[in-house]
Amino acid sequence: MSVYVVTGVSKGIGFEFVKQISEDPKNLVVGLVRDKTGTEKKVAAELGDRSNVHILYANLDNYASLKQAAADTTKIVGERGIDYLVANGAFMSHFDAFDPVSALGNEVEKLEDIASQYYKTNVVGTIHFFTLFTPLVMKGKVKKAIAISSGHADLDFINNNDIDVSALYAASKAAMNVIVAKFSAQYKKDGVLFFSISPGVVDVGHFDNVAPEKMQGMASVMGRLQAYAPHFKGPIPVDEAIRTIRLLWERASIETGYAGAFVSQFGNKQWM
Ligand SMILES: NC(=O)c1ccc[n+]([C@@H]2O[C@H](COP(=O)([O-])OP(=O)(O)OC[C@H]3O[C@@H](n4cnc5c(N)ncnc54)[C@H](OP(=O)(O)O)[C@@H]3O)[C@@H](O)[C@H]2O)c1
Repeated sequence: MSVYVVTGVSKGIGFEFVKQISEDPKNLVVGLVRDKTGTEKKVAAELGDRSNVHILYANLDNYASLKQAAADTTKIVGERGIDYLVANGAFMSHFDAFDPVSALGNEVEKLEDIASQYYKTNVVGTIHFFTLFTPLVMKGKVKKAIAISSGHADLDFINNNDIDVSALYAASKAAMNVIVAKFSAQYKKDGVLFFSISPGVVDVGHFDNVAPEKMQGMASVMGRLQAYAPHFKGPIPVDEAIRTIRLLWERASIETGYAGAFVSQFGNKQWM
């Protein structure tokens, strides 16, 4: 029986959070999206009439919209506050996903635009979201704020496996992890747990429409990933991924060493 606020619930991991959390009618979930009407239709079509689901408009790139969403959330949750605050929404691009870092400079303007967008949404957007919603987390009982990160941001993972793709995305998630640690440093004394979780490789259709030649460029990376995680058989179904993450954030606490941490869905540094 908890109150959740999650960004980026229009699809993928975020939508699955809403689906699983709202299965318990005693939970309350507020989902933030850019397409409110479309998401409300999707919720109605796929989840039916769930009165414990509220969809609000917010664009992570727009402070005023997040501020309005925080005010509207306050009206919805009242004195219960927020138990779990989840920064899930993120900008992602195929621009840097398949090529080694130096190849990105072949399109200088695009590199600069995409790098800025990554920083704006994934780093500054997370700062705004946590800043505006943490007062409600302070009112909640559970007091946990989670950012959905990526194993791509782990230096040991990059260095030990020579992962030269996804440079701009990885850098934005690494910067976000630092921001999460800074929020933790500020709010740990108030009993608020801030930490970052990588969900693993989750099947949400990211690579469904990728040109075969782009995927070919990934072959050597795939080989290195296979060596890193021989047990890995492919992306995890999204329902399984969300169950694993929820078990982790339920058991994680300041006392057990998770304050400001950056961990995988297993609660450690095993990313796949
Ligand atoms: N899937 C994986 O294997 C994987 C692995 C590691 C980490 N992650 C992380 O998991 C999280 C969810 O990703 P996903 O895989 O579920 O991807 P997804 O299906 O593409 O979902 C991304 C979500 O972020 C939202 N979003 C993007 N820009 C936004 C903005 N400016 N303001 C508000 N919302 C915005 C999207 O909304 P729109 O519909 O409006 O675009 C969408 O709801 C991300 O933080 C991602 O980095 C995923």
